[in-house]
Amino acid sequence: MKGIILAGGAGSRLYPLTLVASKQLQPVYDKPMVYYPLTTLIEGGIRELCLISTPHDLPRFKQLLGDGRAWGLTIEYREQPKPAGIAQAFLIAESFIGQDAVTLILGDNIFYGGDNFYRAFTEFKSGATIFGYHVNDPERYGVVEFDASGKAVSIEEKPASPKSNYAVPGLYIYDNEIVAIAKALKPSARGELEITAVNVEYLQRGRLHVQRLARGFAWLDAGTSSSLHDASAYVQTIEKRAGIKIGCPEEAAFRSGFLSLTQLDELVGKIPKCEYRDYLAEVVAEAKRLQK
Ligand code: TTP
Repeated sequence: MKGIILAGGAGSRLYPLTLVASKQLQPVYDKPMVYYPLTTLIEGGIRELCLISTPHDLPRFKQLLGDGRAWGLTIEYREQPKPAGIAQAFLIAESFIGQDAVTLILGDNIFYGGDNFYRAFTEFKSGATIFGYHVNDPERYGVVEFDASGKAVSIEEKPASPKSNYAVPGLYIYDNEIVAIAKALKPSARGELEITAVNVEYLQRGRLHVQRLARGFAWLDAGTSSSLHDASAYVQTIEKRAGIKIGCPEEAAFRSGFLSLTQLDELVGKIPKCEYRDYLAEVVAEAKRLQK
């Protein structure tokens, strides 16, 4: 399974913050936003990654994440010249995807909680797996309608009258058919290659699985100044209470077996003295205790 992080877009709703740095590089409490979706992919066992962003912002992502080797990953980079739609990612990254299945995650989406969630990656075989999450304001998203047996029967993009409260989060798992499906898409009325059109195509083929995310699971998108603030407050609350970190790629890479304990230990040694380093040092110390 390959992984794509889509981190382009205009970020106009975050103006003037986005004059300083792109949306996905803004801080969410104690880390850059892109660390959270990156960590989700690592926790899903994905280590071959491609990050897509604008020609203007891509160099900064490269500086931040490098080739991924330090975290036991490979990270490639591709440019999206204009925000022409989420589904364009599969055309831009065609050579990266090759013959594999692929997960796409949006660079401003934060997921937290539940082991069940990660099974969607490890147990994925074919077709498409997307998620449904109960929200207050479904009209802002792709909305999925279920029948009495829990089967998805329709998906609509930003409907004026939503048929349910279940929004589709920015995390999509597809088999290799996605490349052909994306190639056949026509731009929508707003001029974008729509991810909802991809999901409708899989639905019509009878190949779409929609997993409802359980109550208690957190899905946040950090696209407005208010939701960005909420995301920071949420992360701070959980981290302070539980003494763990959300969105920590180094820890996730270690727990997914991409880094050995020795490698993690060496990595921690290179981080300047700060709370983030103290946390990872504690992860190392605990793992060493457990090894004895
Ligand atoms: P949006 O939040 O819908 O768009 P945006 O980031 O351009 O923000 P705004 O509406 O404030 O101008 O996009 C969701 C995510 O998908 C976000 O992380 C950016 C990314 N994206 C791309 O990278 N390329 C695209 O063509 C589109 C449509 C979105």
